[in-house]
Amino acid sequence: MPVLTLVNEDKTIEVAEGENLRQVLLKNGISPYKGIEKALNCFGNGLCGTCRVEIVDGKNAPSLSPQDELMLAGLLPFYARKVGKHVRLSCKTKITKDLEIKTYPPVEMDKQLTKERLTLTAIWSLFGGVFLFVVTRMLIEIATGR
Ligand code: FES
Repeated sequence: MPVLTLVNEDKTIEVAEGENLRQVLLKNGISPYKGIEKALNCFGNGLCGTCRVEIVDGKNAPSLSPQDELMLAGLLPFYARKVGKHVRLSCKTKITKDLEIKTYPPVEMDKQLTKERLTLTAIWSLFGGVFLFVVTRMLIEIATGR
């Protein structure tokens, strides 16, 4: 049976092979979420990126899919998180080998990605504004018969 070691909690847990990391944490009274994220999360559906854990030294870390990487960075247009090399979503992690983790890894802003997202959002907002203006003008012209 694989052994899960929780560094911050100074705890080791034997788990059944293939068990979901988030489920194991919750079953043992350890929330993978911090602060407001305890209430605002996707309940293990891999959509919010709030159940982050860091796998110590990346040992036995499962591979990171592009979708998981996107969720770890977050989807907000005005804030993107840096994705640490050994950070994983606990809800998408199956424990197949011994794993040593740190809960609540520090979160840093990815300034470059945030800048790119803000630029794209500004461009799309500008196009949206122009589109709405044109459509509104056309509707006014149709309604007034001019
Ligand atoms: S709980 Fe939302 S991504 Fe894991």
